[in-house]
Amino acid sequence: MEILTTVLSVTVISVFLALIIIVAEYFFNNYGECEIDINNGDKKLKVEGGSSLLSTLSGQKIFIPSACGGKATCGLCKLQVLEGAGPLLPTEEPYLSQDERKNNYRLACQVKIKNNIRIMIPEELFNIKEYITTIESIEQLTHDIKGFRLKLPAGESVSFKAGQYMQFHTKPYAKIKESVYRAYSIANVPSDNEAIELIIRQVPDGICTTYAHTQLSEGDQVKISGPYGDFFLRGDCSEIVMIAGGSGMAPIRSIILYVLEKGIDIKMNFFFGAVTKKDLYYLEYFHDLAERHDNFRFIPALSKPAPEDNWEGEVGLITEVVERYVNDGSDMEGYLCGSPGMINACINVLDKKGIPEAKVYYDKF
Ligand SMILES: Cc1cc2nc3c(=O)[nH]c(=O)nc-3n(C[C@H](O)[C@H](O)[C@H](O)COP(=O)(O)OP(=O)(O)OC[C@H]3O[C@@H](n4cnc5c(N)ncnc54)[C@H](O)[C@@H]3O)c2cc1C
Ligand code: FES
Repeated sequence: MEILTTVLSVTVISVFLALIIIVAEYFFNNYGECEIDINNGDKKLKVEGGSSLLSTLSGQKIFIPSACGGKATCGLCKLQVLEGAGPLLPTEEPYLSQDERKNNYRLACQVKIKNNIRIMIPEELFNIKEYITTIESIEQLTHDIKGFRLKLPAGESVSFKAGQYMQFHTKPYAKIKESVYRAYSIANVPSDNEAIELIIRQVPDGICTTYAHTQLSEGDQVKISGPYGDFFLRGDCSEIVMIAGGSGMAPIRSIILYVLEKGIDIKMNFFFGAVTKKDLYYLEYFHDLAERHDNFRFIPALSKPAPEDNWEGEVGLITEVVERYVNDGSDMEGYLCGSPGMINACINVLDKKGIPEAKVYYDKF
């Protein structure tokens, strides 16, 4: 009896405390209608307070770059907030330089709308749109990489620069109860503007990549938005060095196809690094392009070829291979896409070869 009374009392107290929290949340988090002033009065939105600036804007079909889904781990959602943002949060600090802090830049995913707010949005972000696409094809490229071709609705097209990325939205599945979105670089050429091709590597237990690899089939619908990003060809040089690992090939492929299609007078060297042969893909495709175009050179390399690979190509870390091939980089630019470790190491090597970091462009993922 005594045990029953204790359990009952604890339950009643817990329910009571939970009710207090719900009531407090309702009163303290109920910020009512707030106004977002965009670009000094160019646009004024009336919105319900209480959500992040990032999600509130996306609810108004204004899409701000984001790769982490609002978890404050990508730093891409920076916006200038002139008034009404509240104090800078510790989660924002790692992503904002002194200059950006001085100019009131904030992470839109970390700023909660609690009152009227004044923000600046670069014009080009208003061109970002949402598309409901249909999966035209799925190709197994390696044991953990798939290629997806997503067809836009009839009559729609997307205007993007080779090298940019789209956001890919999932639906709830299995134990994942909410939708998430992640960034994926566009792998096709901009003139092929009625479809988007993505190259997605499965990350163990990754929400979006597991969704893409295990839940999707040809004919299914996928929501994407974009284009985003400032990784694209500058071409202010006579030769470029492109280095990629794994699914980092995606934006590089788009840039190569763009240069070849437009007949741009630039020599291209594409270094593609993998561990063993089972991690390589599109080998024949790029070798064939190199045979047909004098200005394109393709150098795949394996860091640890397996005996059964019978690999006769380059061996070593991709940085070692680049070091062997590139001589005078004084009139070159670098375009890199892959893991942060690989990119940092490549920046050092290119610097030694005469390509300063200011002329090296990259997307780390
Ligand atoms: C600009 C940009 C472009 C990108 N383009 C591509 C692309 O073309 N193809 C592509 O495959 N990916 C690309 N990415 C990465 C992609 O956005 C996702 O971060 C990645 O696919 C993991 O998503 P997820 O939801 O499956 O994993 P999450 O659920 O976000 O993460 C699950 C766990 O895995 C860890 N994790 C996350 N990413 C990785 C990783 N890459 N390797 C190892 N562990 C990881 C996390 O720390 C977490 O613990 C790009 C990222 C950026 C910023
Ligand atoms: S959305 Fe990634 S840091 Fe804000």
